[in-house]
Amino acid sequence: MSAEVRRAAEILRAGGLVAFPTETVYGLGADASSAAAMARLYRVKGRPVDHPVIVHLDSLERALAWARDVPREARILAERFWPGPLTLILKRSDKARDFVTGGQPSVGIRVPSHPVAQDLLKAFGGGVAAPSANRFGHVSPTTAQHVRDDLGADVDLVLEGGASEVGIESTIVDVSGGGVVVLRPGRISLEDIEKLGIKVQQRTAASPRHSGGLQRHYSPRTPARLVPTHLLDKEIAQRGDKVAVLAFSRPDERVDFWLRMPREPQGYAQRLYAALREIDGTGCELILVEAPPDTADWAAVRDRLVRACG
Ligand code: TXA
Ligand code: MG
Repeated sequence: MSAEVRRAAEILRAGGLVAFPTETVYGLGADASSAAAMARLYRVKGRPVDHPVIVHLDSLERALAWARDVPREARILAERFWPGPLTLILKRSDKARDFVTGGQPSVGIRVPSHPVAQDLLKAFGGGVAAPSANRFGHVSPTTAQHVRDDLGADVDLVLEGGASEVGIESTIVDVSGGGVVVLRPGRISLEDIEKLGIKVQQRTAASPRHSGGLQRHYSPRTPARLVPTHLLDKEIAQRGDKVAVLAFSRPDERVDFWLRMPREPQGYAQRLYAALREIDGTGCELILVEAPPDTADWAAVRDRLVRACG
């Protein structure tokens, strides 16, 4: 374990904020047991206090201590996908206080697999509350530089861990209400879950609220629009050189800023947030995003694109 990680754990113990890499996106971490540390986290993040945060732990054993009445399906999911890009919403135990759960009776927990996250969580020993390390509503950071660009001096330390491998946030599965409901799609798909013999229910109005579920979220600063493939050419012809384009095909010379995206969903997800941030730096007035295929394997990417396009 590096000296830097040990220093990061010290900062957490003292109530400070540490941004750290995970396999999904970078997180902004604080001691989940400290009201003061959590208050600072919410202030820096710019997040309303009734929005819950995910608690990160180094192992399944430690994670489940934050929950009670853990259903069989939750154990199956945890054993299969932890450490990894899965968040479980469970009934909370006494460890999960109102300042972590936003006052809800449930708690979100996750065991990340990134080696630096694992080291940090082991060195700290307890639960680390960590929303994505961006200001509220902006796109999540997938590199340490993104975190510094967004949060600057407001964070005490940013741990370096390379570009996030998954690139979009964890799959959130609610198992706190008797059924199994996917609240946020991610690398782990509905199909991956159902393959384990687990029946997934539709979301209902009674499903827990979550900020990633807001209409406009994960947004670049530049307005963005989803465009079906067959209309892309027409849109470009109308808009001229003030647009940036995110598409599967080769660059069109009428467009100054063209990012060609991978044709498979995992590669696309990996690149997406960095691409949106890059476009924000170009001065373009509009982003035209070629709509991905309407198939199940693109569900998580489509979810983020729809929100980015507000
Ligand atoms: O991949 C991830 O999940 C990243 C990394 C850092 O782990 N974290 C992340 O956190 O995306 P955040 O706070 O940006 O998004 C977490 C989502 C929010 O929409 C929050 O409302 C929801 O999880 N959430 C957390 N606890 C919840 C709970 N008890 N009930 C319902 N939703 C919850
Ligand atoms: Mg977030």
